[in-house]
Amino acid sequence: MLAEPHADALAQDGQAATGTEHASRTTWWKPLYLFEFMDLPWLPQGLRHTLREILECVSTPPFRTYYRWVARETLQQARRVGVTQVVELGAGTARITATMAAMASRGEDAPNGLGTGSMVFVCCDNNPDVPAYEALARRFGPHVRPIYEPIDLAEPRQWGPDSLLVLSATLHHIPHSARSEVLRNLCHSGNGVLVFEPLRRTIWSMLYVLLSIVPALVVPLRFAGRAGRLRRVLWCWLLPVAPLLFCWDGIVSCLRQWTRIEWDRAAAEAGCRCKLGESLFCQCAYLRRAS
Ligand SMILES: C[S@@+](CC[C@H](N)C(=O)[O-])C[C@H]1O[C@@H](n2cnc3c(N)ncnc32)[C@H](O)[C@@H]1O
Repeated sequence: MLAEPHADALAQDGQAATGTEHASRTTWWKPLYLFEFMDLPWLPQGLRHTLREILECVSTPPFRTYYRWVARETLQQARRVGVTQVVELGAGTARITATMAAMASRGEDAPNGLGTGSMVFVCCDNNPDVPAYEALARRFGPHVRPIYEPIDLAEPRQWGPDSLLVLSATLHHIPHSARSEVLRNLCHSGNGVLVFEPLRRTIWSMLYVLLSIVPALVVPLRFAGRAGRLRRVLWCWLLPVAPLLFCWDGIVSCLRQWTRIEWDRAAAEAGCRCKLGESLFCQCAYLRRAS
């Protein structure tokens, strides 16, 4: 199992970026922005869903604890800043919303008694997984409020000052040239923005992505108790394109990531303060508007 960054990475390993020295440095190459299969509108919906499930499989035990780390870190940040609503943008199968809602209902995130039990969790995506959202709404009642219509995170929208926005493995789907503007809008549409990425632009992350062929092949067994068994067997075993497309998307995702210097520059452009935490494979940025 891979260690995710320490739960308090945000509080410890960050720095403010408001036109810092880093922002004025230049990188010697322009980061590539190749296509990801998951972004292609013509991709069969069943194959897209299988790619999301592979991501879910590689992000949870026994392979990684990424989703738990994201959920715990987000709940802790929500308590620190005192918001009442957490909005997950680009939620995919909304497993992070599910994990946060489950942790909050058990009081698991609040060892010191400052609970998030009354918090509301909103999940949305530009390609919403309606059955998954309906299941969450049934399970958690008024604590989870999915948005069933497509929500494009690049479109400005007011979520309200009581909202913490969270993006996991999603910001890299926005082209480099548009990201600063999107971050500016997000910072102005809520109390703050948490951006998590399970990969970095490093050779280690790319090698790690290639290993995900193993969990990808395990997916039909791992989710055998869920609807969609035939679909998973088709795309992972009979016509095993999903594991290959997942590896391609993973490598491209690594190339789309930002380094610390690029984060600092983008945050300065967006008029945000940015705390960045990094570990071997993950990044977590917390952004708030500078004034
Ligand atoms: C790699 S998946 C991550 C899903 C989920 N956040 C997770 O960590 O498992 C990226 C998600 O971002 C969504 N997405 C991509 N571009 C988007 C946009 N402009 N607005 C909203 N969602 C977007 C995709 O539909 C997809 O569900």
